[in-house]
Amino acid sequence: MLFSAALPAVFLLFSANPLFVAADDIDDDIKNVQNNRYTSTLTLGGKTISVILDTGSTDLWLNPYDGVGSFESTGVSHEIHYGEGATFINGTIGLAEISIAGHTIPRQAFINATQVVGLEACSSGICGLVGLGFDSPTAGIEKALTDGGLDGPTIGKSVLSSIFDMNPDKGRFFAFSLSRLGDVKDTADASLSIAEYDPKYSAVQWLAKRPVYPPTAKSWRILADGVTVDGYPVPWTANAASTPSANHIVLLDTGTTNILVRPEVRDAIYSRVPGAFLAKNSSLRTSHWGADHDAWIVPCSTPVNFGAIFGGQPYPLHPLDLTDMRTQVGPDGVNYTYCVGSITNGGTITTGSTDALYGDSFLRNVYTVFSFGDNTTSPYVQFLSQTNEWESTQDFAHVRQQQLATGAKELNPTDLIRLFDGVSPPGSSGSGSSSSDSTPSSGGSSSNTGGSSSSSGSTTGGSSSSSGSSSSSDCPSGSGSSKVLAGNLADSAAASSDSNSSKYWPIIIGLLAANLLVVLVLAFLGVVSFVRQRRSVGPTRVHYVPTKTKDDSLMRSSFAEDRPYADN
Ligand SMILES: *[C@@H]1O[C@H](CO)[C@@H](O)[C@H](O)[C@H]1NC(C)=O
Ligand SMILES: *[C@@H]1O[C@H](CO)[C@@H](O)[C@H](O)[C@H]1NC(C)=O
Ligand SMILES: *[C@@H]1O[C@H](CO)[C@@H](O)[C@H](O)[C@H]1NC(C)=O
Ligand SMILES: *[C@@H]1O[C@H](CO)[C@@H](O)[C@H](O)[C@H]1NC(C)=O
Ligand SMILES: *[C@@H]1O[C@H](CO)[C@@H](O)[C@H](O)[C@H]1NC(C)=O
Repeated sequence: MLFSAALPAVFLLFSANPLFVAADDIDDDIKNVQNNRYTSTLTLGGKTISVILDTGSTDLWLNPYDGVGSFESTGVSHEIHYGEGATFINGTIGLAEISIAGHTIPRQAFINATQVVGLEACSSGICGLVGLGFDSPTAGIEKALTDGGLDGPTIGKSVLSSIFDMNPDKGRFFAFSLSRLGDVKDTADASLSIAEYDPKYSAVQWLAKRPVYPPTAKSWRILADGVTVDGYPVPWTANAASTPSANHIVLLDTGTTNILVRPEVRDAIYSRVPGAFLAKNSSLRTSHWGADHDAWIVPCSTPVNFGAIFGGQPYPLHPLDLTDMRTQVGPDGVNYTYCVGSITNGGTITTGSTDALYGDSFLRNVYTVFSFGDNTTSPYVQFLSQTNEWESTQDFAHVRQQQLATGAKELNPTDLIRLFDGVSPPGSSGSGSSSSDSTPSSGGSSSNTGGSSSSSGSTTGGSSSSSGSSSSSDCPSGSGSSKVLAGNLADSAAASSDSNSSKYWPIIIGLLAANLLVVLVLAFLGVVSFVRQRRSVGPTRVHYVPTKTKDDSLMRSSFAEDRPYADN
């Protein structure tokens, strides 16, 4: 399922000059396109075509600029609708010899797309899609061929089924990890193997098997126990269709860039992040997914300590996967940097029997085995965690510090929302917001990060993050009192506007002086720990990718609930 957001025209304004950043994986079989897309190459008639890898759908379609050349046409036409339906491809089903991932399939069914609507098609260099989902006699190419009077189950097999059937002595599974662009240490590697494990991650085969749910589902949906922020469970109403032992049904979809949930879950997650505010129906760009008109704005240097729970086991996510950095021109004509939550409202996709789509933002953090099972085993998934909470938080601090140092100015979330939308975000009045009001580089926003940590977070939050958070973790009482004072200051500011009498002024000035002193102390500590940090981690180790600008024309949420598979 390839989810394409039908983006409002305004999105196009920001992608006038698309940057095409692709990183090779070690094995050179997967390319990462700006963390938005993961592609592989396929050859057909001597032509090499870049295709999206999509666990959320099954069919193969191709649409290269210069056509696929000659092939055996079945004459059967077929459309695939993605997302909420407005995005689709349409064409004729053909049969041709193709090669992919080291396998050559003599007569593979595919759709020669003649219409590509709502997708970027070939403009980004990606000219097709290979589905890694389940064959079904009641859906997709297989059904279309059967309906057309042909032998659907024999000639309409998916690419994976074709490969498995050609290798009957091997397992019917594939395994996959996704790389991350822009992190310091290339903490995530990309790897795709069919019917074998990457030797580096072969330990995955001994880990828990998480069966596809419901067992008859023809999609990579499994049960999940919810999520945590800072180690605390996030309230999330259980799905009636789930089991007593697990609460939610989650679709694992490489074709979705981020994570899609219901809006109340999104809000429950980011409202736990210090200094984060919700911009409702905002002109600030949401992350990847055009159907969400709200945006959670998170201070860019604040790591979100997020875990996804499966079978009682937490899988930490890299903080870089929880917020996306963006630059946008404000109403005042000035460019601003801000960070927006990558977990967004899935709309109708997440209101039915599927509670969430865990796309690339989650899948970058695990090596995943997708097994179709065999005669005795039902389909299942296995995860090998790839993210170390402590390392990733350090990594996050380095990357964001560098990005903020070179990018446009970051405003604190409340000021940013006020500037772009002309309203104050909910919950921002009075004392709440002012404690977080300062740009990360000044050290103030640190009081958010440092204070929030719990359990392992307290180690992570601390010393490595940019100037601010180190200071607060070094000196927790200092940051605490800074918050209190900031609160008092806001109160007194309110008092001063309420009253034209001057009786509050001595108090206000006293508080201002005290506040200034705390700020100076914090700034000093920040500088000290910044210097220390620079010394302990040589800048040479950092190979930060400055061109992080997301190209919106490259589609952010490539998942789409492929109609035929919805709610099986
Ligand atoms: C898809 O193509 C077929 C055959 O050309 C055509 O009949 C059908 O109307 C097309 N669908 C859409 C949505 O354009
Ligand atoms: C395949 O699709 C291309 C458009 O992408 C079209 O020009 C060509 O005629 C199609 N070939 C066949 C045999 O349908
Ligand atoms: C969202 O904002 C647009 C203008 O940006 C406005 O036309 C629309 O009515 C708003 N929608 C809601 C639900 O507030
Ligand atoms: C804003 O940033 C974009 C890209 O970074 C740049 O092309 C544009 O000129 C900048 N605009 C202003 C007003 O600085
Ligand atoms: C498993 O199923 C296949 C057909 O799908 C059959 O050919 C094979 O003999 C079965 N193996 C066992 C051990 O039952």
